[in-house]
Amino acid sequence: MTIEIDILNGDASWPIAKPLLSAVWGQDAADKPAWSHVKWANADLRVLLETPEDGLVCHVGIYFRTVTWNGQKVHVGGIGGVCTREDRRGRGYATIAIDAAVHTMRANEAVRFGLLFCEPHNFAFYEARKWQPFKGDVYCEQPEGRIRFDYMAPYVFDIVRAPTLGTIDLCGLPW
Ligand SMILES: CC(C)(COP(=O)(O)OP(=O)(O)OC[C@H]1O[C@@H](n2cnc3c(N)ncnc32)[C@H](O)[C@@H]1OP(=O)(O)O)[C@@H](O)C(=O)NCCC(=O)NCCS
Repeated sequence: MTIEIDILNGDASWPIAKPLLSAVWGQDAADKPAWSHVKWANADLRVLLETPEDGLVCHVGIYFRTVTWNGQKVHVGGIGGVCTREDRRGRGYATIAIDAAVHTMRANEAVRFGLLFCEPHNFAFYEARKWQPFKGDVYCEQPEGRIRFDYMAPYVFDIVRAPTLGTIDLCGLPW
């Protein structure tokens, strides 16, 4: 089995990623999650996994951001929009794509830790991949101003040193 892994500019690769993200997160109006109105950041880079038979099967967005932790500036690497085509799950694709994203973050020497946001049904998935819950508070920007971000739970990944307590301000839109 051949898998092609590309890491592309986020904006340029959006047309490639969009159909998969829409298939995974396209909501019917009756069943909108609490975060459906949240304005999200655009990915800086995207990890795209493709196979010759199926085309795009998995996506991970990568976000580079200078946030603050307890008021101190710190550069982090975010991941978001992690998804695998529904009929191709359980084959290790997301694990490979997340590894590629972490590898890309490590290559950016300024990055101190990884940061993602997820819902309870994915806690075990990330904990099994060495992400740890961040137990402090997270703030971010939205069109209406600065808000406390508690729609999803923050998880951190140790690159140089990951905090698990305190206050993180994303200093921009969430991912
Ligand atoms: C979560 C998701 C990305 C996993 O993709 P995937 O390509 O199937 O992942 P992998 O094949 O690398 O890993 C699957 C493994 O994780 C486990 N797993 C998958 N989802 C899990 C979950 N929610 N909790 C715990 N374990 C989970 C599987 O049982 C499997 O375990 P195994 O390797 O021991 O068999 C995929 O289910 C998905 O797209 N979900 C919908 C979108 C979503 O929720 N994304 C996360 C946003 S933060």
